[in-house]
Amino acid sequence: MAKSASRFVCQACGAVTPKWAGRCEACEAWNTIVEEAVEASPGLAKGRPGGAGRRLQFVDLAGSATPPPRAPTGIAELDRVLGGGLVPGSAILLAGDPGIGKSTLLLQAAAKLARSGRRVLYVSGEEAVDQVRLRARRLGLQDDPLELAASINLRDIAGSLGEAKDATLVVIDSIQTMWMEGIESAPGTVSQVRACAFELIRLAKTANFALVLVGHVTREGTIAGPRVLEHMVDAVLHFEGDRGHQFRILRGVKNRFGATDEIGVFEMTELGLSEVANPSALFLAERRGNISGSAVFAGLEGTRPVLVEIQCLLSANPGGSPRRSVIGWDAGRLSMLLAVLETRCGLKLGATDVYLNVAGGLRVSEPAADLAVAAALASAATDQPTDPSCVFFGEVGLSGEVRQVAQAEARLKEAQKLGFSRASLPRRVAGGNRKLAAPEGLALNEIGHLSDLVAGFTGKGAKADRR
Ligand code: TYD
Ligand code: MG
Repeated sequence: MAKSASRFVCQACGAVTPKWAGRCEACEAWNTIVEEAVEASPGLAKGRPGGAGRRLQFVDLAGSATPPPRAPTGIAELDRVLGGGLVPGSAILLAGDPGIGKSTLLLQAAAKLARSGRRVLYVSGEEAVDQVRLRARRLGLQDDPLELAASINLRDIAGSLGEAKDATLVVIDSIQTMWMEGIESAPGTVSQVRACAFELIRLAKTANFALVLVGHVTREGTIAGPRVLEHMVDAVLHFEGDRGHQFRILRGVKNRFGATDEIGVFEMTELGLSEVANPSALFLAERRGNISGSAVFAGLEGTRPVLVEIQCLLSANPGGSPRRSVIGWDAGRLSMLLAVLETRCGLKLGATDVYLNVAGGLRVSEPAADLAVAAALASAATDQPTDPSCVFFGEVGLSGEVRQVAQAEARLKEAQKLGFSRASLPRRVAGGNRKLAAPEGLALNEIGHLSDLVAGFTGKGAKADRR
């Protein structure tokens, strides 16, 4: 294999520089540049003279596109995030923090697929065969006809997979442990990860099996693997959660064969991951009524309505600079809402510490949560509980106007299903949600301006200024 001089690769972003530096110019990370030997990409055909390639056949757009065939894993939460199941020949990256449950999820999915008569190969580079067997026994999967091997040597793995033309799924756990001969850097470095993934993906395309690569990401993002891999694979799924909570959320962040805004919700139990068909009930399970500073947000994750509790705690801080601490929501949006509440609604929160939390460990990214957050803040500021049978949704603009959000109907239906009897939502307008009908048993409380909501708590703002 032709080898030229070495090059220097940033392990954080994958940028290549001709010489070593303490700091990467591309991503500005310190001490991430590592020397690596330059190799010709092992999967590329060599020696084809430039200009002598085959002539391409250009076609029209209409064609006869058939949807790709899919192999459902039988785990509905996973299949939905995948867009209906595994697509043969596709490569999927399952990324997540160490210990979050990636191996558990894949072992369960792989075993279930194998049980349905498909051929499934599971290659573990992290755990010995006995360790995986132990886990399988704990999960009650020991009798499923899954083919298991422990190896980190890519040449061995590629050789074995080349013959597995009838396989439906191959799992590589994890890509950071894989090692290809001839590349003079350690497993987990950008060159190793990229070369190993390239070869595995090429095999998946030729042998037509679905490939799942496990990738660890650390909080500091020091392991580059998943970042450089995102461009090479067809789908990227993030497995998220707080290890202090039992909920795990599988989120599609890239999917060439399906929507990317779907989530799958799981619960980590003694017996592995169990699917949560009704996440709202789970997220609201520990809610206590009649406590100020709490409001239920009727949110949307992908196509799926999810109700979550927004909690807020205020504490007076007359002297120093006030603290804002946010878990599960955007800190910038909280600052904006505080400013709107103060300037447009006369709620004085300037010298108050604000702690905001989305209960249950879910991360909410929708601006539609504005109204629920504002309700929680107004409730905490006035020490008056929100109506425990009411859900909130709506985006708040800088002048305090409450704006329309997508899929109001789906949100209302979910609220009704979970026994709520009221919903505070943006005022219905012509051309917007004018025709929106309330589901039976649900009263709609339309809000045009945030001060209308605040007035419900303060009754003319008398209690708002509690300093
Ligand atoms: P694991 O799948 O090994 O995580 P990853 O592959 O993402 O590193 O999951 C590890 C954690 O899950 C571990 O802390 C123990 C916990 N766990 C359970 O709570 N129940 C179970 O049945 C299993 C198998 C694991
Ligand atoms: Mg693992």
